[in-house]
Amino acid sequence: MKLQDKVAIVTGGGRGLGRAIALLFGKEGANVVVAAPKQNQIEHVVQELKVLRKNAIAVQTDVSDEAQVDHMIQKTLEAYGTVDILVNNAGSRGPIAPTNEISLTEWEETLRVNLTTAFLCSKAVIPTMIGKKSGKIINIATTLTPRPNLTPYMVAKAGMISLAKQLSRELKEFNIQVNAIHPGVMDTRMQEEIRKAGTKAIGTDMFERLKEEGLLHSPDEPAKLVLFLASKAGDGITGEFLSFDDKEVKFLLSQE
Ligand SMILES: NC(=O)c1ccc[n+]([C@@H]2O[C@H](COP(=O)([O-])OP(=O)(O)OC[C@H]3O[C@@H](n4cnc5c(N)ncnc54)[C@H](OP(=O)(O)O)[C@@H]3O)[C@@H](O)[C@H]2O)c1
Repeated sequence: MKLQDKVAIVTGGGRGLGRAIALLFGKEGANVVVAAPKQNQIEHVVQELKVLRKNAIAVQTDVSDEAQVDHMIQKTLEAYGTVDILVNNAGSRGPIAPTNEISLTEWEETLRVNLTTAFLCSKAVIPTMIGKKSGKIINIATTLTPRPNLTPYMVAKAGMISLAKQLSRELKEFNIQVNAIHPGVMDTRMQEEIRKAGTKAIGTDMFERLKEEGLLHSPDEPAKLVLFLASKAGDGITGEFLSFDDKEVKFLLSQE
């Protein structure tokens, strides 16, 4: 068991990559806190873990709301007494449109859901991690390659990488490791929504090409990269941005 008795919070854990991470962490012995806005989805994931006799709780949370984030941490500490791992996975693609057609409200909302969320959750777990002089924070970002018509989302995700690098420096002396990953392109609801917006909106026939080239994968695969960073195998790695599509990363995971 790679995470025996560790306590892990997975935001956006109700579906897609978050669900895959929550299930994998649970199977590896972690006590998992599954946090997302929809109670039925997070309860379902917790039930999937309970069937396997694994420990998990569902905490209904909009992680863009500081009071709800504080409540999530409080529930985690009540249930398990500490927190060892935070996965900042919650995200939403925001508007698909040329930048000049995006309203200030859409811009701010997209940054809030995809970047401020990671700030709030990190801020909330850091005191506990400093207190125990250990911890892992993993930000789910995306590629740095520009994607047309997704500017607020891409900018926010680049911010997640920068946030990880900043925190890694600030928290190094407390043995807290902070990294960001690009999970590759996954066949989840988010991709479905992007496809629905039409090939014209995203500028290419990207989805079909990725499928043909075998680059569209299940979220179960990048979840293994998150596990790698969260487990002992990832100890000492901090301030990095790792892409699941990188050949060296794939090689590293194949050795696990
Ligand atoms: N899919 C891809 O190809 C891809 C590529 C690169 C990066 N990513 C990133 O990987 C992560 C997971 O993506 P995915 O494809 O699994 O997405 P997804 O299927 O759309 O799931 C996103 C999850 O985040 C939750 N969420 C959204 N806003 C939230 C908030 N304010 N508070 C708490 N939870 C919130 C959603 O909850 P609801 O169900 O309530 O909406 C959902 O559980 C995201 O950060 C995404 O940006 C995805």
